[in-house]
Amino acid sequence: MAKPARVRKAVFPVAGMGTRFLPATKAVPKEMLPVVDKPVVQYAVEEAKEAGIEQFIFVTGRGKGVIEDHFDHAYELEALLSARDKTAELDSLLEGLPPTGSVSFTRQQRPLGLGHAVWCARHFVGDEPFAVLLPDDLLVGKPGALAQMMETYDEVGGGVVIAAEERKPEEIHRYGVIDPGATSGRTISVKDVVEKPKREDAPSNMRIVGRYILPPEIFTDLDRGETGAGGEIQLTDSMRRLIGDFPFHAVNVKGDWFDCGDKAGFLQANIAVGLQRPDIAPVLKPLLKKYLG
Ligand code: G1P
Repeated sequence: MAKPARVRKAVFPVAGMGTRFLPATKAVPKEMLPVVDKPVVQYAVEEAKEAGIEQFIFVTGRGKGVIEDHFDHAYELEALLSARDKTAELDSLLEGLPPTGSVSFTRQQRPLGLGHAVWCARHFVGDEPFAVLLPDDLLVGKPGALAQMMETYDEVGGGVVIAAEERKPEEIHRYGVIDPGATSGRTISVKDVVEKPKREDAPSNMRIVGRYILPPEIFTDLDRGETGAGGEIQLTDSMRRLIGDFPFHAVNVKGDWFDCGDKAGFLQANIAVGLQRPDIAPVLKPLLKKYLG
């Protein structure tokens, strides 16, 4: 099978209001809340870099300006750390920076849904396949989710590749859900997808996780601006309409997913990441034991 076109660009929809995390997200974007010591959005950018992404396109909104600042130099701070020989702290700032000229920002001017947010990036993506990463979904595990998906993308010859994971039936109505076909290892062929079905109508317990590799033709469908579940322009609906024209696969990626847009999920992510960090785990482990009795 011919190798599909390389995926060089990633879109990060970060315009969401973070209503599940109020009051914390009144003035601070939810993507900037730290998991241990890095903002949630930085994990997604690092995951994309690891997967070979070269261009990072953020779809932001009002009040999200600090995300731009976070991916830029902070001259005063860098000069101060350098003058004081605080090398480790300085390195922690510099290693999170994407190369100059590789980051762009556009705004979703109205909250019309995930499909609309992705469509806002169409001129930056152009006519090539691209990835979408929703930073709220954080994977703890290596390799990262997108790297695992890229492997599948090459194996199956391109098309649509998404991440999926099993959830409890009572949670499934909150997500996009796949109708799974034949499975080979962790790769599932997708027969259909539905956005936020009622529990009794869900075709499976496999939810769509916020990671996508998409062909540029998705933009032609998103141009229609058709609304779906919740009156929003849904990415899931446009993917659904590509079925038949493109191969469509889901990857049940290795690792644990945490929903950082949710209070409990965010706390769990902090614990899971903390337990993997050699500088934090020795303090965290005994503390958890103490509180759990
Ligand atoms: C979006 C997608 C949904 C997916 C979810 C993953 O939903 O529409 O299909 O399962 O992200 O996090 P949202 O979280 O915007 O409601």
